[in-house]
Amino acid sequence: MFTRKDNLEPFESKVWLASPTMHGEELKYMTEAFETNWMSTVGENITEIERIMAEKVGCGYTVALSSGTAALHLAMKLAGEKLYGKAENGRGALFNKHVFCSDMTFDATVNPVVYEGGIPVFIDTEYDSWNMNPDALERAFEIYPEVKLIVIAHLYGTPGKIDEIKVIAEKHEALIVEDAAESLGATYQGKQTGTFGDYNCISYNGNKIICGSAGGMFLTDSLEDANKVRKWSTQSRENAMWYQHEELGYNYRMSNVIAGVVRGQISYLEEHIKAKKAIYYRYKEGLKDLPVKMNPVPKECEPNYWLSCMIVDRDAMCRQVRGEKDVLYIGEHGKSCPDEILEAISSINAEGRPVWKPMHMQPIYRMNGFITENGNGRAQTDAYVDGEVVDVGMDIFSRGLCLPSDIKMTVEEQDRIIEVVKRCFE
Ligand SMILES: Cc1ncc(COP(=O)(O)O)c(C=O)c1O
Repeated sequence: MFTRKDNLEPFESKVWLASPTMHGEELKYMTEAFETNWMSTVGENITEIERIMAEKVGCGYTVALSSGTAALHLAMKLAGEKLYGKAENGRGALFNKHVFCSDMTFDATVNPVVYEGGIPVFIDTEYDSWNMNPDALERAFEIYPEVKLIVIAHLYGTPGKIDEIKVIAEKHEALIVEDAAESLGATYQGKQTGTFGDYNCISYNGNKIICGSAGGMFLTDSLEDANKVRKWSTQSRENAMWYQHEELGYNYRMSNVIAGVVRGQISYLEEHIKAKKAIYYRYKEGLKDLPVKMNPVPKECEPNYWLSCMIVDRDAMCRQVRGEKDVLYIGEHGKSCPDEILEAISSINAEGRPVWKPMHMQPIYRMNGFITENGNGRAQTDAYVDGEVVDVGMDIFSRGLCLPSDIKMTVEEQDRIIEVVKRCFE
């Protein structure tokens, strides 16, 4: 329990990390689906969001699916079949193939690699963007020259160094799956994320910048790929009088009711981004005198500011020891740590969260390859060796946290959160 400076009033209703923000039109489109009886995985809401989103993001085609994870799964399957041919029965399209993956991300980025039988190899993170480090990626190709697929995510809505990663991918004739689940509306060199990969995915789950309560989308410029994904997502039904199946299928299509929620949200994307950006800069200003930094906004990027995060300076960290599921810290004058700050935030009825725990540190993926810029190709037990950083992801995880970033948070509520963070460093 947080005890050090728990003298601020808790909020009456909880301030969330990122909860759905509805506007009313969502209900209109859901009701239309109900009243016209298109309570299924076909209907006008689906057709419309596919059309509007392709236009908005700037790609040829989109396919509405039940989740971002489903979109990523079918993206992996497409990539695997293109690279290695059709999978044999019982084997995924990436069977036994190594795949380079972003390390600091949500596990939904990489699990679909495994659904298709692939073996993720994690590429360390860079401080510049908190995304995949292109130099570590280049090193990874020296160790695994046979790799032909790279999966990149844009953490917290901030694009990674896509141009550098694309150059490396082209040099090694590798394809890219772009996981833009968190970064819808963010741009890199003026172009939207979700258009850079060979296969691209976004998510509409409840905490995203716009949401459908659930749902995701596959984005592509290839009509052939879009058609394949649409077919696979509806149990791979052939065009025949009866249920005819020639290949493995999935029940991954989006419901027309969910599509109604998404349809009602789409026109609010820019407004949501503006609100998130204001939150980010209010934190930046409010915390500027503390020994902390906000998550980076790299050159040539316009993030969607989905989550505001901060990282405690190394020399301002109090002692914090994390086990698998628990943590101990010792508060110190002038110093603090993510777990103390998270407890303090929680003590006023607000929700923060640790930075996503890197994949190479997760028990499920601990034995997989992990490539850092300077390390020895194996996971380390500490982020530092002789005072030098050897594992950037582990370092950001131990010093970073996500601040409450809900659009509905008032300025006064945010001020109180800033105040509670400040008190941790007294
Ligand atoms: C980076 C990332 N990838 C993939 C996903 C999966 O999306 P969904 O929850 O729609 O399956 C999420 C979010 O949940 C995410 O944050």
